[in-house]
Amino acid sequence: MKNFLSDPRFSGIEPFESKVWLASPTMHGDERKWVDEAILTNWVSTVGANIDTIEKEIADYVGVKYAVGLSAGTAALHLATKLAGERLYGQARPNHGTLEEKKVFCSDMTFDASINPVAYEDGEAVFIDTEYDTWNMSPEALEKAFELYPDVRLVIVAHLYGTPGKMEEIKSICDRHGAYIVEDAAESLGAKYRLDGKWIETGALGNFNCISFNGNKVITGSAGGMFLTDSREDAEKVRKWSTQSREAAPWYQHEEIGYNYRMSNIVAGVVRGQIPYLSEHIEQKRAIYERYEKGLADLPVSMNPWDRVKSVPNFWLSCLIIDEEAMAPQVRGETDYLYLSESGKSSPQEILDAIAAFRAEGRPIWKPMHMQPIYRTNAFVTVDGNGRARSNAYIAGHGADVGADIFRRGLCLPSDNKMTPEQQDRIIEIIHRCFR
Ligand SMILES: Cc1ncc(COP(=O)(O)O)c(C=O)c1O
Repeated sequence: MKNFLSDPRFSGIEPFESKVWLASPTMHGDERKWVDEAILTNWVSTVGANIDTIEKEIADYVGVKYAVGLSAGTAALHLATKLAGERLYGQARPNHGTLEEKKVFCSDMTFDASINPVAYEDGEAVFIDTEYDTWNMSPEALEKAFELYPDVRLVIVAHLYGTPGKMEEIKSICDRHGAYIVEDAAESLGAKYRLDGKWIETGALGNFNCISFNGNKVITGSAGGMFLTDSREDAEKVRKWSTQSREAAPWYQHEEIGYNYRMSNIVAGVVRGQIPYLSEHIEQKRAIYERYEKGLADLPVSMNPWDRVKSVPNFWLSCLIIDEEAMAPQVRGETDYLYLSESGKSSPQEILDAIAAFRAEGRPIWKPMHMQPIYRTNAFVTVDGNGRARSNAYIAGHGADVGADIFRRGLCLPSDNKMTPEQQDRIIEIIHRCFR
C-alpha cells in the first residue's frame, strides 16, 4: 500500500486518534438493566422476559403479528428459506433439503448469508442482476428469469445498505408467477416502503421475513436475528425448529430435523435496551448520509440512490459510486488488487486505502454472488436474459452486468453513528484529495 501520510496530496491532514468505524455497536447503558435482570433472575438461557418483550415490541414496530427471536439473521434466513421450501414442496426427508433440485431466484449484490440457505436446503441459487435506481434486485431481470425458468416459485430479496428495493414491481411479478418472497431485511430495520398508498416497514413485505441484530446493524443484540410473519403456524414452526424440533413427549422425541437457533435471553436483553434508540440511530445515519451527499457534491461521484417517493431508507451505510469518466485504473484479482493514481480521478481501492491510512474504515461494495468462486457455475440473469457465456472473441461487449459495475466503481463509507461531524468532514476532505 502507498504511504498516504507522506503523499503531498494529503499534506496537512492528521490521522484520527481513535479509529472511525464503518458501523460499530452503539450502547446506551439501558442494555445493562435487562442483561443484569436476566442474570439476577437466572433467566439466561433461551427463555425469558427479554425474549418475550422484544418479540412483541419488534412485531408491533414492523407491523407483523409474530416475531421469533433467533441466534442470528443467518439462522432466520435459513429457517425462512427452509419453511418456504416446505410450504412449496413438502417436508424433506432427513439428509435432504426442502429445496432439493429446485431453483431459487436470489438477489445477487448482497452478503452471502442472504442466499447460502438455498444451498443449506440443497437448492440452486439463480442470481438476478441489480438495478441502478436502488442497488437492489432488478425487476426487469427478474421478469426475464421467469421467462427462462418458469417453474421457479421462490425469490429471496435483500434491501441493500438499508435502502428498500423495488418491492411493488417485484411483488407483482412474484404474484403473477405464484412465487413466494423471502425478505432479507437484515440491513434495513426501520426502513419503509410505500405500497398501494400505505407505508409498510421492511420486514413485513415478503411471505417469510428476516432481520438481524448483528453488531454492525442499526440496533444490535451483540448478535441475534428474527423471523417475522403474520402466520401463527409459521411462527410456531420456526420456533419449534429453532429449539431442536422437540415433540410433546416426556422424552426427546423428534418428527423433524431440529436446530439450536433460538435467541438467548441475554442477547434479547441487549436488544431490549436498544429498541428505544432505533429512531435516534436512524436519524444519526440519515444525517451522516446527508453530510456526505453535501460534502461530496462537487466531486464526480454520487451517493447510493433511493426512491424518494416510494421509500424511506434507514441509511444503515452511506456509499458512493465514482462516475465512469473519473475512474482511475483499478484491477482486482480474487484476493488482491492494484490501482494507479491519476489527476482528477480515483478508484474505490485508492479511496479505501487512503481513508484506512488515516484510520477510518470503509468497505468495498458486496461482491456480487455471481462473481464469487463458490457460485461461479450458478445461473445469472440480467436485463438481457442469461448473463453467463455472453462474451465473444470476435464481438465487443458482453451485455449488462450492473452488479459488477457497482462493485467496480462503488464503496461503503465510514457510517458509524458515533462519528462526529468534524471526523466526517476530515473523511470528506481525504476523498477530495484522492481526486487531486
Ligand atoms: C444482507 C444481510 N443478510 C444477512 C445477514 C446475516 O445476519 P447475521 O449476521 O445476523 O447472521 C447480514 C448481516 O450480517 C446481511 O447484511
